[in-house]
Amino acid sequence: MNSFLDLLFTRHSVREFTGEPVSEEDLETIVRVGMAAPSAVNIQPWAFVIITDRAELDSLSAKLPYAKMLDKASAAIVVCGNPEKDPQFARKFWVVDCAAATENILLAVHSLGYGAVWTAVYPEEKRIDIVRKACGLPDTIIPLNVIPIGVPRNKDARAVDKFKEENIHWNTW
Ligand SMILES: Cc1cc2nc3c(=O)[nH]c(=O)nc-3n(C[C@H](O)[C@H](O)[C@H](O)COP(=O)(O)O)c2cc1C
Repeated sequence: MNSFLDLLFTRHSVREFTGEPVSEEDLETIVRVGMAAPSAVNIQPWAFVIITDRAELDSLSAKLPYAKMLDKASAAIVVCGNPEKDPQFARKFWVVDCAAATENILLAVHSLGYGAVWTAVYPEEKRIDIVRKACGLPDTIIPLNVIPIGVPRNKDARAVDKFKEENIHWNTW
């Protein structure tokens, strides 16, 4: 197997971190990889908030029940959609485009030896409000998720094989 396929198969959600730092340079690289994702008509209806401030991470951890692990993460990236970037395509496809950017981010994190997990914000109005306020987002910008990032605590954790033959259909269902 080539090393990129190996990277894809070994990525898994990491929810426990050692607290060791994630460098600013690595965070920039990770976001760059996010921006390398495909998007409908290449509109790129995304923006990324990189959080390294301890108080902000802890405050979000306290307010987001499904993102408690932020209190041990060294950084987080909020993947935001900008549906108003374009009246037609961004409005229709921002979620899909930002999801593609998110997967790129998760893979870049993994390739650099860190761990991360997609924690859901959109479409839950309450969570959107919490993240909007915490990050000072304009009303037109919608946070899709918060991705806590850190050095994985459990070095032995492995991805589960999720291959299912029944999910493949050749030529017709
Ligand atoms: C849209 C979406 C929302 C998710 N929300 C959360 C979440 O709020 N909290 C969490 O701990 N994991 C969340 N996850 C991570 C999933 O639980 C995880 O990807 C799934 O269990 C498969 O495990 P794996 O990522 O290790 O392959 C989310 C994943 C996706 C794609």
